[in-house]
Amino acid sequence: MKKVTIDPYQLSELTLNQTSLLVTRDQNNKANMMALDWKTIGELWSTPICVVAVAPSRYSFSLLEEVGEFTLNVPSPKIRSAVSIAGAASGRHVDKIAKAKLTLEPSKRISVPVISEAVINYECRIMHKAESSPVCSHRLFFGEILEAYAAEDLLK
Ligand SMILES: Cc1cc2nc3c(=O)[nH]c(=O)nc-3n(C[C@H](O)[C@H](O)[C@H](O)COP(=O)(O)O)c2cc1C
Repeated sequence: MKKVTIDPYQLSELTLNQTSLLVTRDQNNKANMMALDWKTIGELWSTPICVVAVAPSRYSFSLLEEVGEFTLNVPSPKIRSAVSIAGAASGRHVDKIAKAKLTLEPSKRISVPVISEAVINYECRIMHKAESSPVCSHRLFFGEILEAYAAEDLLK
């Protein structure tokens, strides 16, 4: 799938309207993904930001804390079943990316890979964190969007 660089806000409505795949990695560069609904994209401190809300119980939470980077990947209809896999089990016990038969490729600017089959990819470096309590117990990770790219077909 040919991808082209996009403005970080260009396809944000499409991104926000569906469940994303949040990819992290461990100290041995093994990647993990989780299903993620709670996120937003916008500008803060004159910087394009993607905020993701992740519960402390998730394996992804520890990896975000350890590595400080993530990619947000928007699935195409073809890989929608990957969302169920990503949201049903924990990467502590299952290699969900292998189970979903997804392909990883290196990011351009960060050490966490992107999912090739996703139609939009965002590369993000965490620059701020906040607690969402008392609404609920998720931590908000504010990732600076360093790169964003999308399937060329989406832009036609
Ligand atoms: C559709 C869907 C959306 C989800 N959105 C979120 C979310 O926004 N934040 C969160 O912490 N967990 C969310 N989850 C739950 C995690 O994806 C789930 O607990 C996952 O197994 C965590 O994986 P991990 O332990 O490998 O990190 C969602 C699950 C589903 C099915």
